[in-house]
Amino acid sequence: MGFYGERVLPRILNAACGTKTVEPLRHRVCGGLAGDVVEIGFGSGLNVPFYPAAVTRVAAVEPSDAGWNLAARRLRATAVPVQRSGLDGQSLPFADNSYDAALSTWTLCTIPDVAAALAEVRRVLRPGGTLHFLEHGQAPDERVRRWQRRLDPLEQRIAGGCHFTRPIVDLLTTAGFTIEELDVFYEKGAPKFAGADSLGTAMSP
Ligand SMILES: C[S@@+](CC[C@H](N)C(=O)[O-])C[C@H]1O[C@@H](n2cnc3c(N)ncnc32)[C@H](O)[C@@H]1O
Repeated sequence: MGFYGERVLPRILNAACGTKTVEPLRHRVCGGLAGDVVEIGFGSGLNVPFYPAAVTRVAAVEPSDAGWNLAARRLRATAVPVQRSGLDGQSLPFADNSYDAALSTWTLCTIPDVAAALAEVRRVLRPGGTLHFLEHGQAPDERVRRWQRRLDPLEQRIAGGCHFTRPIVDLLTTAGFTIEELDVFYEKGAPKFAGADSLGTAMSP
């Protein structure tokens, strides 16, 4: 990945994804999480302050050492046990049906084989377990989608493989999840091409 991907980008993401304006969204997506939770693309732990008390433990899956290290202060401040338990959402080192819930925020845009990652999340969730998601992706409006297609190659280069164009809800349903709750909106303060968000929960059958 090189110096930029390993050292610089995790700090940029920590700052860009750590703004006060997205805290209400993190609060919403973490609402209702309970029991043993796997979080894919844990990053610098920006969701940690929003884990509900009903969460018994979190298995953090994150490839970036720098991202994980940036989480230290948040990890010290939480009562929820969090362990870095995996490095790649595409291949989770967990038994089938071993988690009550999963969490993914602004990560399905970046994982190279997102279908493989969603299949893995389904495998490790117990039947009836839910994936809580907050993801940016393909916009509802064609005018915005055109810009997303134009800017996608640049975004992939500067943002560690991030795509603007992924159809989040289609990816979830194709992976076999049933959407339980869904809110699709443009994030306040973000350009529409980057802030077409889907927030909700999806159940593993
Ligand atoms: C935009 S950041 C979001 C981080 C965090 N979820 C948040 O909300 O602040 C995307 C994250 O996905 C991680 N990531 C990239 N490839 C991954 C993979 N194959 N498996 C799991 N996480 C991955 C990156 O290292 C990065 O931390």
